[in-house]
Amino acid sequence: MLDAPSNRPDLPAEIARRRTFAIISHPDAGKTTLTEKFLLYGGAIQMAGQVRAKGEARRTRSDFMKMEQDRGISVSASAMSFDYGNFRYNLVDTPGHSDFSEDTYRTLTAVDAAIMVIDGAKGVESQTQKLFEVCRLRDLPILTFCNKMDREARDTFEIIDEIQENLAIDVTPASWPIGMGQDFVGCYDLLRDRLELMDRADRNKVADSIKIEGLDDPKLAEHVPDHLLEQLKEEIEMARELLPRLDPQAVAEGHMTPIWFGSAINSFGVRELMDGIGNLAPEPQPARAEPRQIAPEEKKVSGFVFKVQANMDPKHRDRVAFVRLSSGHFERGMKLTHVRSKKAMTISAPVLFLASDRELAEEAWAGDIIGIPNHGQLRIGDTLTEGEALRVTGIPSFAPELLQGVRAGDPMKAKHLEKALFQFAEEGAAKVFKPNIGSGYIVGVVGALQFEVLGARIEQEYGLPVRFEPSQFTSARWVHGDKAAVEKFVNANKQHIAHDNDGDVVYMTRLQWDIDRVARDYPDITLSATKEMM
Ligand code: G4P
Repeated sequence: MLDAPSNRPDLPAEIARRRTFAIISHPDAGKTTLTEKFLLYGGAIQMAGQVRAKGEARRTRSDFMKMEQDRGISVSASAMSFDYGNFRYNLVDTPGHSDFSEDTYRTLTAVDAAIMVIDGAKGVESQTQKLFEVCRLRDLPILTFCNKMDREARDTFEIIDEIQENLAIDVTPASWPIGMGQDFVGCYDLLRDRLELMDRADRNKVADSIKIEGLDDPKLAEHVPDHLLEQLKEEIEMARELLPRLDPQAVAEGHMTPIWFGSAINSFGVRELMDGIGNLAPEPQPARAEPRQIAPEEKKVSGFVFKVQANMDPKHRDRVAFVRLSSGHFERGMKLTHVRSKKAMTISAPVLFLASDRELAEEAWAGDIIGIPNHGQLRIGDTLTEGEALRVTGIPSFAPELLQGVRAGDPMKAKHLEKALFQFAEEGAAKVFKPNIGSGYIVGVVGALQFEVLGARIEQEYGLPVRFEPSQFTSARWVHGDKAAVEKFVNANKQHIAHDNDGDVVYMTRLQWDIDRVARDYPDITLSATKEMM
């Protein structure tokens, strides 16, 4: 057995059994299908349909809007908790579309590990590569699932080589596929010397597993067809010789990824992957914070907001802030300090996203994700504690890559537009800039699809048709420096200055030349393309 000893014996058992992770993949690789199967094993079968409704593959704008109309679904699928074996799994959904990469980045600040799903025929695709880079920035441990082995796939060594080369990470096979496509019969579990056989007749059936005493065990020949047996033995011998052995420490540090082969749609390989997450993905990790790090085993509760979802019910303008608990044992009704405003908040109706529906969370532990309904007090990057002035760090905001002016279709409704824009900005759906000169707002996003979604949502949720128009600026940079230097800079560059939705000073331009000039002429000022949310 592979039960990795916890290297944190001081953790309360409830925290030590939690695994909080996200799935990263290119659209269509099978993330939704895999999620469904996780939930199936986790005893939440009724969830399957809901996940499907949120399938991210081939999503068009209209699919997106349709999905967004049913905000309930999208929220309950944003974080899902389920039990399997000894573990409590918290799966945090990452938006699949590349236009939402900032949201994805922030989501990855809330997890301790990621599952990378690749399609066996396609290998590492562009979106996977991008998301992998984000995980690498945070040294997140990554476990790999190579899906769709029931179809023609690439040669196993080729897939492993591609991951090693493109992503510069060691790959160790946790299982080895036997045959491929029509010929695929199952996998040899290299970690436990077991044969896992796939049942094509029943897609929801858990595979049979047969204990094997090494490659010379005659039982192998009973189950593996002759024409595949020799090949299997040769390949495994070669793999053991050429590929690195599993090193749990290297996995924990993000230098090595174990790979499982399977077929999500046939429920095959999923159980082994889940066991792998339990055994190899880490327990809740300490959170980076100022002025000190937060350890999960601390008695006092703390957590941070990594996502806000607004207008779940357009009539009430309520929002749910998704909070990753960083420490302690949370109980419903607790009074927590909202560190940014220094105000106390009684958390009376937190939700846990268990199984099929959201439920009131009576309790939760470090590592869990809870939803806190609120009227706008909670913003992305906010920290909640039992009183101590801690601030979780490392939740970034990126300078938008696309800027457009925005106007209300009805000029009398400018105030309403302002309110709507600020609301979406707080949700993290866009940046809003108010230039110092002139009227109106400039909206900044990372991907063009966000303009469409934003326009449609403002119209739908606020009954306010809006028009986007070209802006005279194409870049926005946050201005950092001491107060006097910033003031001097602002006064000398009035036509380039705006304030963002948090009131921070921003320099706007359409020329890289201007940005270079500032660097040259104002040594006391730094222009930056990211800022920390707080
Ligand atoms: P995504 O969330 O990563 O975008 O992928 P999703 O799970 O939606 O899967 C994309 C397509 O791949 C779906 O087919 C799904 O049924 C299929 N698929 C997932 N896992 C496997 C697998 O192990 N083997 C095979 N052969 N196919 C798999 P679709 O036809 O596009 O959608 P649907 O009609 O099945 O819903």
